[in-house]
Amino acid sequence: MNISTITLRISGAQLSCSDEHSSLLDVLESHRINVDYQCRSGYCGACRTRLLKGSVVYRQAPLACLRQDEILPCCCMPVDDIELDI
Ligand code: FES
Repeated sequence: MNISTITLRISGAQLSCSDEHSSLLDVLESHRINVDYQCRSGYCGACRTRLLKGSVVYRQAPLACLRQDEILPCCCMPVDDIELDI
Protein backbone atom coordinates (compact mmCIF):
# COMPACT_ATOMS: atom_id res chain seq x y z
CA MET A 1 0.00 0.00 0.00
CA ASN A 2 1.25 3.44 -0.89
CA ILE A 3 1.03 5.86 2.05
CA SER A 4 2.05 9.48 1.76
CA THR A 5 1.77 12.50 4.03
CA ILE A 6 -0.20 15.60 3.12
CA THR A 7 0.92 18.77 4.91
CA LEU A 8 -1.41 21.77 4.98
CA ARG A 9 0.65 24.96 4.96
CA ILE A 10 -1.83 27.26 6.69
CA SER A 11 -2.92 25.05 9.59
CA GLY A 12 0.27 22.99 9.77
CA ALA A 13 -1.88 19.84 9.87
CA GLN A 14 -0.39 16.57 8.60
CA LEU A 15 -2.72 13.96 7.14
CA SER A 16 -1.93 10.47 5.99
CA CYS A 17 -3.16 9.39 2.62
CA SER A 18 -3.44 5.80 1.39
CA ASP A 19 -4.63 4.10 -1.79
CA GLU A 20 -8.02 3.29 -0.30
CA HIS A 21 -9.22 6.77 -1.32
CA SER A 22 -10.05 7.49 -4.92
CA SER A 23 -8.89 11.11 -4.93
CA LEU A 24 -7.04 13.70 -2.89
CA LEU A 25 -10.38 15.49 -2.41
CA ASP A 26 -11.77 12.32 -0.76
CA VAL A 27 -8.74 12.20 1.54
CA LEU A 28 -9.17 15.85 2.57
CA GLU A 29 -12.90 15.35 3.17
CA SER A 30 -12.24 12.23 5.26
CA HIS A 31 -10.16 14.48 7.54
CA ARG A 32 -12.96 17.10 7.58
CA ILE A 33 -10.96 19.62 5.54
CA ASN A 34 -13.32 21.77 3.49
CA VAL A 35 -12.31 22.25 -0.14
CA ASP A 36 -14.58 23.87 -2.73
CA TYR A 37 -15.77 21.53 -5.46
CA GLN A 38 -18.52 21.14 -8.04
CA CYS A 39 -17.98 18.56 -10.75
CA ARG A 40 -15.55 16.22 -8.97
CA SER A 41 -14.25 15.16 -12.35
CA GLY A 42 -11.61 17.65 -13.41
CA TYR A 43 -13.43 20.10 -15.67
CA CYS A 44 -14.94 22.94 -13.58
CA GLY A 45 -11.77 24.02 -11.75
CA ALA A 46 -13.66 24.74 -8.48
CA CYS A 47 -11.32 22.58 -6.41
CA ARG A 48 -8.14 24.21 -7.80
CA THR A 49 -5.43 24.25 -5.08
CA ARG A 50 -1.77 25.27 -5.06
CA LEU A 51 0.72 22.45 -4.67
CA LEU A 52 3.75 23.71 -2.74
CA LYS A 53 5.78 20.49 -2.57
CA GLY A 54 5.68 17.00 -3.99
CA SER A 55 3.80 15.69 -7.00
CA VAL A 56 0.47 14.15 -7.92
CA VAL A 57 -0.82 11.82 -10.60
CA TYR A 58 -4.19 12.25 -12.37
CA ARG A 59 -6.76 9.53 -12.99
CA GLN A 60 -7.42 11.22 -16.30
CA ALA A 61 -5.94 14.39 -17.79
CA PRO A 62 -7.69 17.39 -16.18
CA LEU A 63 -9.70 19.63 -18.52
CA ALA A 64 -9.77 22.79 -16.35
CA CYS A 65 -6.99 25.33 -17.00
CA LEU A 66 -4.28 25.16 -14.37
CA ARG A 67 -1.25 27.27 -13.56
CA GLN A 68 1.98 25.37 -13.21
CA ASP A 69 1.71 25.13 -9.42
CA GLU A 70 -2.00 24.29 -9.28
CA ILE A 71 -3.67 20.88 -9.00
CA LEU A 72 -7.24 19.57 -9.02
CA PRO A 73 -7.68 17.46 -5.87
CA CYS A 74 -10.93 15.89 -7.18
CA CYS A 75 -9.12 13.79 -9.74
CA CYS A 76 -5.55 13.26 -8.54
CA MET A 77 -3.65 11.39 -5.86
CA PRO A 78 -0.24 12.16 -4.34
CA VAL A 79 2.70 10.12 -5.59
CA ASP A 80 4.87 11.16 -2.65
CA ASP A 81 4.61 13.47 0.36
CA ILE A 82 2.97 16.74 -0.66
CA GLU A 83 2.27 20.17 0.80
CA LEU A 84 -0.84 22.17 -0.09
CA ASP A 85 -1.50 25.91 0.25
CA ILE A 86 -4.63 25.43 2.39
S1 FES B 1 -14.41 19.80 -8.58
FE1 FES B 1 -14.48 20.37 -10.67
S2 FES B 1 -12.40 20.31 -11.26
FE2 FES B 1 -12.38 19.53 -9.23
